[in-house]
Parts: sequence; C-alpha cells; structure tokens
Amino acid sequence: MKLSERIVRMAPSATTAMAAKAKELKDQGRPVVSFTTGEPDFNSPKAARDYAVRAMDEGQTHYTVNAGMKELRQAAADYYERHFGLRYGVNEVITGTGAKQLLYEAMGCLVNPGDEVILFAPAWVSYFEQVRLFDGVPVIQDTQATGCIPDPQQFEKLITDKTVAVVLNNPNNPTGMVYPHDVLEKITRIALKHGITLINDEIYERLVYGVSFTPHLLQLVPEARDFVLNINGVSKSFAMTGWRLGYALGPEKLIKAMTSMQGHITSNTSSISQWAAMGALKESEEDVERMRKVFEQRRALVLRLLADIPGLSVLEPSGAFYVFMDLSAFLGEGKKWATDVDFCEAILKEKALGLVPGTAFLSPGHVRLSYSCSEEQIVEGVRRLKEFLA
Ligand SMILES: Cc1ncc(COP(=O)(O)O)c(C=O)c1O
Repeated sequence: MKLSERIVRMAPSATTAMAAKAKELKDQGRPVVSFTTGEPDFNSPKAARDYAVRAMDEGQTHYTVNAGMKELRQAAADYYERHFGLRYGVNEVITGTGAKQLLYEAMGCLVNPGDEVILFAPAWVSYFEQVRLFDGVPVIQDTQATGCIPDPQQFEKLITDKTVAVVLNNPNNPTGMVYPHDVLEKITRIALKHGITLINDEIYERLVYGVSFTPHLLQLVPEARDFVLNINGVSKSFAMTGWRLGYALGPEKLIKAMTSMQGHITSNTSSISQWAAMGALKESEEDVERMRKVFEQRRALVLRLLADIPGLSVLEPSGAFYVFMDLSAFLGEGKKWATDVDFCEAILKEKALGLVPGTAFLSPGHVRLSYSCSEEQIVEGVRRLKEFLA
C-alpha cells in the first residue's frame, strides 16, 4: 500500500507520543511521573456532568445540525459577550470535536496549495502539520530573542502576497506567555492592514495568573472583527478534554465554510458533549475559578522548585499550565545528551519522568513541563529532574 505524500511527511504529535510512552511504562509497573499532557487532572464540573446525564436520559442522543445545537452556539456567544463585551450571532459560531478540529477546518477553508501561514515559535505542535496537510507553507517567526513574545515589526516583514493567515496563541502553549496589550494590538492592526486572517487560539484564555482576564484583541482593535477567527473550547478551563468540544466565533462566511467542511468530516460533535458544554458555559463559573486558583498555586510551587536547579533557564509563565525550559547548557556535542529529544527519552527511561522535547514546538534545546498534575507529583517530578541534571 502506498500512503499519500501528505501523510508520509507528517510528523506524529510529539505530545501524545510522549504521553503514550509514559503511560506504557506506567502500565509496566514503573512509578512514572508524567509532565507530558496538557490536560487538567480535575473531574469535569458537576453542571456539565448533570447536563450530559439528563441529555442521555431524555434521548438527546441523535445527530444535531452540523455547527452544533443552536442553544449551545448561543451559550458560546453569550459567554463572549459576558467576558469580552463582544457580540456574535449564532450564525457566527460553530462547535466541533475539540478546538483541534476547528483549527484544522479553518486551515482547510483558508489555505490553498502554496499559501503561507505565519506561526510564532515556540508553537503548539499541530499548527505546523495542519497547514502542511493542506499543502500550505508554515512560515515561522522565532520569538526566542524577544522573550517568546512576537515582535510585530518582524511579523510584518514576513508577510508576502502568499500570506493568508497568522496564528496567535495567547496564553501560549508551550511557553505559558501572556502577550502584552500593545503586542496584541499591533499584530491585529498589521493583519487587518494586509487583509490576512488572524486565527486567535485562546483555548487557555481563562488560565492566567495575576489578573483574571486579559483584554481581547477585538476589544483593542474592534474594526478587525471581519478578519479574526476566535478558537476556544471547554477542554482546558473546564477540565473537559475527553468530551471533545471546541467552539469558534468569527465572520459568518468563514464559519459557514467550516460548517460545510465539518459536514463531510464528523457532521456534528457528540450531542451529549454539546449538552455537557452547555452546562459548563452556563453554570460552571465557580469551578473554573476554583481550578484556576489551584493552577496558580502549582505554578508558584513548580517555579520555586525549578529555581533550585543550577544551570536551568526557566521562562516564567503567566498563563496556561506549562513551563518552558532552556536546556541548551546541558545539550550538544561532548555533553551527555545531544538533543532535547535524547534528553526526554533518557529521563523517561532512567527516572520514569515524562517531559516533552522543545523540538515538538519548533524550539529545539528546550523541554516543556506541564504542571497540570498533583502537588505531590510536581515535587517528586522536579526532584527527579534535579537529580538527573546533577
Ligand atoms: C494551543 C492549543 N490549541 C488547541 C488545543 C486543542 O484543544 P482541544 O482539546 O479543544 O482539541 C490544544 C490542546 O492541547 C492547545 O494546546
């Protein structure tokens, strides 16, 4: 059998691969600590579970319209109005099988072969591959020299007549950076000026520390509304990764195109998950804040422990639940590990500690630690990391 070139050149998701390796070791009885996956360890909010059970009992177990139930799209629109003062109609909202599917559909609806999409590295694993799955060209702006915050001037220089979109991920996976207002504003203005679509992945929008909310880029530049696609979902802030429910809000033309594409992929996402998401969006505010506070404590703990490891350079995050660390002092020719990938494989094997290599985020020489696990695991995992590096 001959597989398509598109699939042969695609790299599998390194985060899920590392998580799978960690799980395999755990199944063999090793006392694994896994800092690999980006998912909260809490149960989903009670309202979400109750809505789902009720939906099953009442026979809400059939196809819905492709974009998702009108009531849910309305609940997502209401959420954006409540939190950001942004108004969207139900025809400007689509729900899908996780934010991941919606990002994929957005690429499918925007990218022709050879078109360019600008990504800011370090970047989440899937953007790069999703652009390439549609024969587009990911154009990477490395943000390391500017503290992992995109530089608007450099961004503008990368725009060509082939550029169709830019992906902004704020708060960021893997760095945990929350972008300053002026950067958000400048990038949005530049995208608007050049007429390119800004895919605004704000799946971690509720997980910021120090302040409860950051302004939305459309509050800063309201006139860019027709060029911005907001990607969000219940996976991270509501601890609902397994329900696979994401939503997107944007210009009706794009939402309609994505809905039409979804009609040929999954039709709608699970009706039960749609009901659960309704419970989350309407009645789970307190749960979100409770979990955010726990993450805030874990963040303080992990940063305190990591500061005690000599030679380790840590970028202090203000959002999401990740710490991105520069390991370059420990890697390279003549050192014990040549690359971040070698390092992650070795530490998993020798110390049963799971981390994700920075290479997976277009940033070799780094590793990502996810602190979405218990304080005991954080303490034990960082202890193993310290011992390994010593
Ligand atoms: C930046 C970013 N966007 C999107 C997603 C996908 O989320 P979902 O579970 O809703 O598909 C993730 C999940 O890890 C993510 O980190």
